[in-house]
Amino acid sequence: AHQWRGVVEEYRDRLAVVAGAPAVTLGEGGTPLVRARHLSELTGCDVRLKVEGCNPTGSFKDRGMTVAMTRAAADGARAVICASTGNTSASAAAYATAAGLSCGVLVPDGRIAMGKLSQAVAHGATLLQVDGNFDDCLTLARKLAESYPVELVNSVNPARIEGQKTAAFEVVDALGDAPDVHCLPVGNAGNITAYWRGYTQYTDAATNGQPGPATRRPRMWGFQAAGAAPIVQGHPVDAPDTIATAIRIGNPASWEQAVAARDESGGVIEAVTDEEILAAHRLLSSRDGVFVEPASAAGVAGLLKRHAAGLVESGLSIVITVTGHGLKDPQWALREADGSEVSPVRVGVDAVSAAAALGLE
Ligand code: F0G
Repeated sequence: AHQWRGVVEEYRDRLAVVAGAPAVTLGEGGTPLVRARHLSELTGCDVRLKVEGCNPTGSFKDRGMTVAMTRAAADGARAVICASTGNTSASAAAYATAAGLSCGVLVPDGRIAMGKLSQAVAHGATLLQVDGNFDDCLTLARKLAESYPVELVNSVNPARIEGQKTAAFEVVDALGDAPDVHCLPVGNAGNITAYWRGYTQYTDAATNGQPGPATRRPRMWGFQAAGAAPIVQGHPVDAPDTIATAIRIGNPASWEQAVAARDESGGVIEAVTDEEILAAHRLLSSRDGVFVEPASAAGVAGLLKRHAAGLVESGLSIVITVTGHGLKDPQWALREADGSEVSPVRVGVDAVSAAAALGLE
């Protein structure tokens, strides 16, 4: 049986940035493309979820990190650094460990999901909590990388975007062609940039590198949280705010590339409210069986919002990237829609009362 070898070995011929360097891998990529039965019925479309929570550290960041760390190790780097709302730091810490490099992570003051923090600590990263937001952390990380012997592994590192484009390859490999529409959350805007590059390079018309199996490219539909929607508003947001902490970003590094992906694809970048994100988060887990972290539900929230506005033709093939695992930030599942805490039904060791509580006759 074929054993998935991680994105560097699976797509090495399309990742010029790593050339022949030995891969630093934890077996990332090859994630499931799951048909969402309920979302498909609701929209009259063929909706599939690219479940990136199935990567080794539980988010899509691992695709970029394997490539960035492969490059850094080959270049003889000793240390890496990143700014992060949590997932990048979890991934950087794990891959730095696999590469034998030391890792420093800069996270904003508060509002980092516990699961992500615990990963960075577990993998032995040096964790600095910065007195500022994510944008401040990234500014600081860039300064450190300019002046000290440390490699920056945020998505401003070109190897990161290169690695993340492999998700688009996998979608095409699974479907036989690109979908009509690709939905995803937008934070620092690296991932929408990466998907667009991946879809573009994987077409039969691709001029850069070798052509791929796709005959077309999807419309890119990106969604920001309403309290952190600089691209939608057309200017940086000084105090970004959203419960979707992963995308609480006011000045995305790949802003221009995201706008290019939107415009070249005939797509959109729109905002969804925290309420819409949480409703989509709940729907995904309770109706389609896929548990994601809140930010990851932004793409689903956006699709539902556009569908409700009559902007989604039926019969489309739609892929939604759900970017991170629900276990990263499980607290949101432990609240009812009205905000009250979920509490289990208490029963004795007694089949009759347990059956009654389960609604069994
Ligand atoms: N979803 C999740 C779960 C994320 O962690 C991120 C970004 C995004 C979506 C947005 O992706 O930045 O490429 O537009 N997280 C970064 C981090 C900022 O530090 O982990 P993007």
